[in-house]
This record gives sequence, C-alpha cells and structure tokens, in this order.
Amino acid sequence: MSDRDERNLVMLGPPGAGKGTQAARLGERLSVPHISTGDILREAVANGTELGRQAKGYMDAGELVPDELVIAIARERIAREDCAPGFVLDGFPRTVPQAEALGATMRELGRKPLRVINLQVSEDEIIRRLSTRRTCRGCGGIYSVDDGDTGDPCPNPDCEGELYQRSDDQPEAIAERLRAYANQTQPLIDYYGERGLLVNVPGEGAPDQIAEAVFRAARA
Ligand code: AP5
Repeated sequence: MSDRDERNLVMLGPPGAGKGTQAARLGERLSVPHISTGDILREAVANGTELGRQAKGYMDAGELVPDELVIAIARERIAREDCAPGFVLDGFPRTVPQAEALGATMRELGRKPLRVINLQVSEDEIIRRLSTRRTCRGCGGIYSVDDGDTGDPCPNPDCEGELYQRSDDQPEAIAERLRAYANQTQPLIDYYGERGLLVNVPGEGAPDQIAEAVFRAARA
C-alpha cells in the first residue's frame, strides 16, 4: 500500500452504536489493524495485569478510565509497524485531552490526517442493543441474543467458544456510560467537525448496509 492510501480512521459514537462491529469489518476490508481500547483494557483485566487492576473499577462502574492510562496505550499501539498503512481506532479518543494527544502523536509520527466516522444511533436502540449483547470468549465475535442467530456456544462454526455478557452491560453501568458519553465524548463531534475531519453515518439498519456506508465514508 502506498503513502497515498494510508487510512487513519476513528470510529466515534455512543456505547452500543456498533463501533466494534463496524471497525472489525472495516479493518479487515482495508487490511489495517482494528484497535479497540475497550478490548485492550478487558484483556488486561482478564489477565490480571497492573493496567487491568487500575482499570477494572472504572470499567465495571461504566466510567471512563483516566486519560493518562488510555493515551499511553493508544500511543504505543499506533507507533507499531503494522499501523504504517493505517488503522481503525474503536473507542479512542473519547475525551478532548485524548483527541489532542492523538493529534500530537500523529504529527510526531508524520502521519496523514484522521478521518472520523460518527455512527448515529438513538438512545432507545442503544439500550436495546447493549442489554441483548453477548461476546465470545473464543473469537471475540459480537452477537445479539435477539438476532435469532446466537445461542450457546458461539454461532461461528470455526470457534464454538463460550458467549458471555459484559459486566458493564448491566442497567446501572449502561446509564453511567451514556452519561459519560454525553459529558465527555459528545464534544468530540464538534471538535472534529470544526476541523473538517468528521463524517456522519446513520448507524441504524442492517449491519451490511451500514458497513457499505462506513466503507464509503472511509474512502471518501
Ligand atoms: P468500549 O468497549 O469502547 O465500550 P463502548 O464505547 O461503550 O462501546 P461498546 O463496545 O459497548 O459498543 P460498540 O459501539 O462497540 O457496539 P457493538 O459493535 O459492540 O469501552 C468499555 C469501557 O472501557 C468504557 O466504559 C471505559 O471504562 C473503558 N474505555 C475504553 N476506551 C476508553 C477510552 N478511550 N478512555 C477511557 N476509558 C475507556 O454493538 C453493540 C450491540 O449491537 C451488539 O450486540 C451488536 O451485535 C449489535 N449491533 C451492532 N450493529 C447493529 C445493527 N446495525 N443493528 C442491530 N444490532 C447491531
């Protein structure tokens, strides 16, 4: 892939907007890494690392993990060689200080500008999606228990791992995540809009149709 093709993408949107679902597809389609700070933190918690120990309480409560921890993770990951052709960031940045740190990192690394894809989904749909979401311990696949295509084990025939419900998909934590989104992440819509980097994509409808709209937004 030439420099001209470098695709540095950010998926923005409320909890449950489909960032993980669409970022995984987009990363695969563009052959660039899908980087989810939520996944990195959940893995750290599962492995009982120092990072996981520091992050767990915030995550279970639905609060954001402190900026300095998350910025360090993202910086280190983006600087790796496999991100040279680009990346799809999922769940980062989600505060203005994180967006500023990402901008500084991109300049330091001499990278091309970001494109920020903002998935728009109503609050009713978000609550429905989060309360029915299940994740596979084996392949990391994301499913919905009312899709009719899930069960126990994982519906992926190559995996058949165990499905589980995330600890932050309980009603109290969902409410706190929505508050954190409104207070700390929603301002990024204006932040990136003012810089001409934002593309809005409607996030309700069939995942395949949304994937096409996201792909077009990424290539525009
Ligand atoms: P994170 O893992 O990033 O969670 P989130 O932003 O709340 O987003 P979700 O993963 O819940 O939703 P999603 O938008 O990816 O939707 P998904 O594709 O799964 O962060 C978790 C926690 O980690 C945070 O609360 C915080 O504590 C910490 N953290 C992470 N990053 C941080 C940062 N940068 N700074 C500070 N703290 C940070 O889809 C949801 C469901 O909908 C699924 O069941 C899916 O199957 C279904 N679905 C998807 N698309 C559709 C569709 N089109 N139609 C119907 N159903 C659909």
